[in-house]
Amino acid sequence: MESVVGDLTDPDVFRAALDGIEAVLLMWPLLDSAPAHALLTPLRSAAPRVVYLSSSAVDDGRARQSDPIVQVHADMEALLDEAGLRPVVLRSDTLASNVRGWAAQLRAGDVVAGPDIARTAVVDERDVADAAVRVLLPDGDRFGRGPHVLTGPDLLGRADQVARLGAVLGRRLRFEAVPADVARTRMLADGRPEELVAALVAASTRRPESDRVTEGVRRLTGRPAGTFAQWAADHADEFR
Ligand SMILES: NC(=O)c1ccc[n+]([C@@H]2O[C@H](COP(=O)([O-])OP(=O)(O)OC[C@H]3O[C@@H](n4cnc5c(N)ncnc54)[C@H](OP(=O)(O)O)[C@@H]3O)[C@@H](O)[C@H]2O)c1
Repeated sequence: MESVVGDLTDPDVFRAALDGIEAVLLMWPLLDSAPAHALLTPLRSAAPRVVYLSSSAVDDGRARQSDPIVQVHADMEALLDEAGLRPVVLRSDTLASNVRGWAAQLRAGDVVAGPDIARTAVVDERDVADAAVRVLLPDGDRFGRGPHVLTGPDLLGRADQVARLGAVLGRRLRFEAVPADVARTRMLADGRPEELVAALVAASTRRPESDRVTEGVRRLTGRPAGTFAQWAADHADEFR
């Protein structure tokens, strides 16, 4: 396997990386879709199969999305579509891997403090990766362009995730919901950029509760989505 290291928003790096490539899984971890315009020409000339990793929180019924992070995903989907790239869209729910952000707190004590976000059907990122591989392959066409909504099997709040992690670690862990303004101050003190902090706080206060568990992972991979408990068991050592 060959890898290229570079800034995703640099069209020259991007063009070079596309050389000889037949399929692209595009992820956009930025808070602004504008720099993606510069990638459209290289993508059009290389003409790979494009799969975009979006968010399950995108609501097609809304003109404006709930918060800046979801808005960027909706904008990226529209941008790629309007550019004629015919993207296959995977809309992922909250990744289980987000809880890695708790590792330092869990090494220091039994409390995870943070903003409480609405319950979502947390999905194992390995399932998202497997689903992406399925649609990236040449015969992935048969699944259509989606959007394929990828969720885990259970709707979980932060406290549920902390409890499941505690069960695996054999510890009585507790989640402590922190008000948005306190969370904001703490994240800024941790050195996180102001724009990111604003987006995370908006996501925690404005994103609606999800009531949706889908068969998306099973449809694409042929097997059921993994549970968060299994993810926790597989990654327990990272929290010890
Ligand atoms: N987390 C979720 O719950 C969730 C849900 C739905 C969709 N997604 C999507 O899934 C993807 C992964 O999510 P995540 O939460 O794991 O993201 P993340 O923790 O923010 O990681 C983003 C990765 O992208 C790299 N990156 C950032 N800016 C870049 C740039 N300009 N050029 C090249 N690389 C850059 C970062 O590299 P450095 O470490 O070097 O900065 C980091 O490795 C994202 O595209 C996100 O939009 C995530």
